[in-house]
Formats: sequence, C-alpha cells, structure tokens
Amino acid sequence: MEVSLASAGVGSECELVLRDLPAWFGIESALLQYAADAEKYPTLVARESSALVGFITVRQHFEHSFEVHCMAVQAGQRRRGLGSRLLKAAESWAQLRGGRFMQVKTISPGNPSPEYAETRAFYFSAGYAALEEFPLLWSKSNPCLQLVKAL
Ligand SMILES: CC(C)(COP(=O)(O)OP(=O)(O)OC[C@H]1O[C@@H](n2cnc3c(N)ncnc32)[C@H](O)[C@@H]1OP(=O)(O)O)[C@@H](O)C(=O)NCCC(=O)NCCS
Repeated sequence: MEVSLASAGVGSECELVLRDLPAWFGIESALLQYAADAEKYPTLVARESSALVGFITVRQHFEHSFEVHCMAVQAGQRRRGLGSRLLKAAESWAQLRGGRFMQVKTISPGNPSPEYAETRAFYFSAGYAALEEFPLLWSKSNPCLQLVKAL
C-alpha cells in the first residue's frame, strides 16, 4: 500500500470509496461535496496495485491549525491499518507546514449510531480527545463532536 498526494481527477475515485460506505455517507449532496472537495483541498490517497482504497482530505484554517475534512477507507479494507497510515501521513504533512493542532468533527454519542461509535473509537485510538459538542451545527439528529490532537 502506498500513500501519496492526490492528483487532479481523483474526485471520481474518492466518490467510489464514499459510495462503498452508505452508513456514513448516505446523504447524496454531502457525498458529492466530499468527492469534489478531494480535488479542492489537499488530499492524500492510499493505493493498492494502483486502485484507490482510501483517502484523507485536509483543510488548513489558521497558521497552526488543520482539520481532517473527510476520510474514508473502502469497506472491505477497513481495520487493516490503512486509516492509521493515512491519518499519520496527513498529520506529518500538516506538521511540515507549521501545523500544531489537527481537529476533526464527527457525530457525537448523542446519536446512537454504532457506525459512528466505530469512527470515534478510531480517532480516540489515534490520540484525539473530545473538545466540544455542537448539538445544532449540522442538525438536531446529527449532533457534532469536535475532536482535537496536538501534533
Ligand atoms: C474510520 C476509518 C477511516 C478508520 O480506518 P481503518 O483503516 O478502518 O482503521 P485502522 O485499521 O487504521 O484502525 C486503527 C485503530 O482504530 C481503532 N478502530 C478502527 N476501527 C474500529 C472499529 N470499527 N471499532 C473499534 N475500534 C476501531 C482500533 O483501535 C484500531 O486498531 P486495532 O485494529 O489494532 O484494534 C475507516 O474505518 C472508515 O472509512 N470508516 C467509515 C467512514 C468514516 O468513519 N470516516 C471518518 C468520518 S469523520
């Protein structure tokens, strides 16, 4: 598996990975936005035999602060360490550009989704800590949890 910076045209490949994960990316407009954003913002991709199996899109907010905007690993490839490699690569990429903090926003435990419990477990295992909950940022049924890690 190789991790590299995405090149132009990667959006359609990222879209396929997102479509493979309907429990997380079931809202069509959001899915298309994340696929488009993979070309708009810096994105690292994981490839196996040239096929894209995962990606992470990062945004820079201020001089020292970055955010995981979206990340996804193909359903059949989950829990094999790909997500960890992508996240570490993105953290190093941000650090090299002056990043001191990486944040990510996900669904909070206020929503009982077992899928998002897995997502939070992933970020906690990578050293992220819950910083604040924003109950109405997205919608009442999708309360947002902001997680942060000092790089
Ligand atoms: C979240 C995601 C990116 C993680 O990638 P991954 O390749 O599956 O994760 P890894 O194999 O690197 O897992 C690293 C560690 O995270 C934790 N973890 C990962 N998946 C987990 C799960 N389903 N349940 C509990 N813990 C989990 C474990 O501690 C794991 O280490 P271990 O396997 O040695 O126990 C991936 O599962 C995914 O695409 N999920 C769906 C979409 C999503 O949640 N995107 C993020 C939205 S903000």
